[in-house]
Amino acid sequence: MPESASANIGVVGLAVMGSNLARNLASREGNTVAVFNRSPERTRTLVEEHPEAGFIAAESYDEFVASLAKPRTAIIMVQAGKGTDAVISELASRFEPGDIIVDGGNALFTDTIRREREVRETGINFVGAGISGGEEGALNGPSIMPGGSDESWITLGPILKSIAAVAEGEPCVTHVGHDGAGHFVKMIHNGIEYADMQLIAEAYDLIRRGTGKSPAEIAEVFAEWNRGELESYLIEITAEVLKQVDASTGEPLVDVILDEAGSKGTGVWTVQTALALGTPVSNIAEAVFARGLSSHPEQRAAAKGLAGPDEAERIPADQVDAFIEDVRLALYASKIVAYSQGFDAIRAGAAEYDWNIDLGAISKIWRGGCIIRAQFLNRIADAYDENPNLDLLLSAPYFAEAFTRAQAAWRRVVVRSVEAGIPAPAFSSSLAYYDGLRADRLPAALVQGQRDFFGAHTYKRIDKEGVFHTLWSGDHTEIETTPSSH
Ligand code: 6PG
Repeated sequence: MPESASANIGVVGLAVMGSNLARNLASREGNTVAVFNRSPERTRTLVEEHPEAGFIAAESYDEFVASLAKPRTAIIMVQAGKGTDAVISELASRFEPGDIIVDGGNALFTDTIRREREVRETGINFVGAGISGGEEGALNGPSIMPGGSDESWITLGPILKSIAAVAEGEPCVTHVGHDGAGHFVKMIHNGIEYADMQLIAEAYDLIRRGTGKSPAEIAEVFAEWNRGELESYLIEITAEVLKQVDASTGEPLVDVILDEAGSKGTGVWTVQTALALGTPVSNIAEAVFARGLSSHPEQRAAAKGLAGPDEAERIPADQVDAFIEDVRLALYASKIVAYSQGFDAIRAGAAEYDWNIDLGAISKIWRGGCIIRAQFLNRIADAYDENPNLDLLLSAPYFAEAFTRAQAAWRRVVVRSVEAGIPAPAFSSSLAYYDGLRADRLPAALVQGQRDFFGAHTYKRIDKEGVFHTLWSGDHTEIETTPSSH
């Protein structure tokens, strides 16, 4: 092997995530890292600023590819979209069968499926890998969700294990499944992230407007919650954000940030995908919708004068602690729903796309490194350890017990939000989902009757096999029929 082909891994795209991932790779025993960026300035800066990394800098694709030992392995860290296709084609035209191209961006999983199929024809492996944990995670240990072939995992597995976060002694990476499975699971991770953030935001709003506590005081509440069963990265950073005072105004920072939430699209993808799969990820959808509602200032201005409840009474001082405990329980119960819905979407996606995804393994790799890392993931891991084929995560014994503890408080909080006119869409839709699942009979029977009435869509009966239709426009007798195709 020529001296120059000495890197076992390369990184293309050296913005913050790519640079940090390259530095992380370089800091682990056994890795020699080649780096390349379209504008060479960035490559030079990275190499100058981090001599300790021993990077092999390349200023062209030819140089980059020549610096990689076989099987050549390169991680692309560029903005998802067209740029990714361009980089893939540059690499694929120079790589050989058995080499590995990894897309570490937030690509849409259907793009990954397409790219994998195209690249596979050349004998090169294409791996879509979700990487979570932001800039800090990329540098110190992210949670990694790779898809792609078994062959690619042989080379990639040890490299990714060397840089991943470690939780409970295990690296937060697993071979999720073939082709787009990794990006699919990362997408669901982000959907759950949206739900988790929205639930926390609703809890904050209810406490703030219900008790009049200041952001700094509520920061204390979150810090306290972070010592219990809600312990998680998102609760921890919420306390930090709420504590922050704006330097220019002296106000809590949260009060001077414009209340219009942005998004880059992964939450929308999750909901679109789940809708297509017929999987009700209502909690995640509410989180996406809440961001959408916030981002229409003209509509909010138009709604300003609409009637609401009379100025809601503050919670009496002697009931404030009990109310906050109710909100904590409501948050916990809603969070179980959000995760259960997310795992259900993974189960449905795996069935649809023929991926063999181990849900327990997913819960384990989310215990560290990623944005939704939480104590709680251990409980999910336990649930799948006990029963790997759980139909419904939230029905696992541990969670069933949590609902027994939380459900009365959850209802009180939703009632309070409705009476006070404080929107809590994720809390209330989670509760509606929970009650929907619990119901002995659903009004879906009536919907079936309506469908049969106007469209002869037919229905099944509870007391005998077969498919039926009532002659609504005739004498209202029932006939047995073949299932409607429309
Ligand atoms: C992660 C994050 C990361 C990104 C989100 C932000 O797992 O590290 O999810 O991927 O910060 O995509 O998403 P929005 O901009 O849509 O909130």
